[in-house]
Amino acid sequence: MRVKSGIEGFDVLVEGGFLQGRQYLLSGSPGSGKTTFGVQFLTTGAFEGEAGAYITLSESIGTIVDDMSRYNLQIDDLIKKKKLFFIDLGPLINYGEYDEMANLITPDYNQESGDTPVNQAPTPFSVFKEVENQVRRCGIKRLVIDSLSAIRFTSQSQASEERSIVRFIRNLRNLGCTTILLSELTKPDTYTIEQFTSHGVIFLHNFMDKQGTMVRALQIIKLRGTKHDCEMRSIEFSDKGLKVGKPIKK
Ligand SMILES: Nc1ncnc2c1ncn2[C@@H]1O[C@H](COP(=O)(O)OP(=O)(O)OP(=O)(O)O)[C@@H](O)[C@H]1O
Ligand SMILES: [Mg+2]
Repeated sequence: MRVKSGIEGFDVLVEGGFLQGRQYLLSGSPGSGKTTFGVQFLTTGAFEGEAGAYITLSESIGTIVDDMSRYNLQIDDLIKKKKLFFIDLGPLINYGEYDEMANLITPDYNQESGDTPVNQAPTPFSVFKEVENQVRRCGIKRLVIDSLSAIRFTSQSQASEERSIVRFIRNLRNLGCTTILLSELTKPDTYTIEQFTSHGVIFLHNFMDKQGTMVRALQIIKLRGTKHDCEMRSIEFSDKGLKVGKPIKK
């Protein structure tokens, strides 16, 4: 079954949408539109009755909701109707400001160092457990996790970090949600384990062209089981969020 992203000009490039229950990686440079894409994807589902959750590890909910409310996506209404949830995990664990939430997360916490959990960055395990709770409690069908880059993967070695990332993504599969994992795009020409493990990879770019004009673009790198467009396409922001346009001429 195809799950519409609702992003104008996108679904037509991917046989109508994402495959239900799969995990996709949306990787982009700072300010390239990752959050906007993710929130549009969630609101599209919410309008059709599929509850969605935006899990944030790096930015406060207030800021994200404020910024995203600038678009005409009826975010406040969907939140009130309990079709759209914003869940803040990062700062809660990092700074220990919200004991109630820390308590919610700590029982299953896999503590290997002597630090108190509230002072540690979110681990794949703590994030997964909390996401799982929310999915079960609120009947979530669409998930966005912002971001994979903000989760502290136990990094004694690159091999164990990679295993940890693979395990995290594979665990998410068991939740049955269509998931978009946001990540920072630091080296577009280097392939990472999360790109291999995810069912699909989309890049968002923003860069200066030779004339010094900001170019925004989207490119679908892979989408398993889907005949998809491969061009680097221009994107623009409208009052409804992102809109995908024509291929960029080289
Ligand atoms: N209401 C708006 N209308 C038009 N463009 C906007 C609007 N709001 C934001 N933008 C553009 O979108 C960019 C940010 O988009 P978004 O937050 O989705 O990107 P991001 O990739 O999530 O960023 P970050 O890496 O900081 O998390 C802004 O830098 C701005 O250029
Ligand atoms: Mg963002």
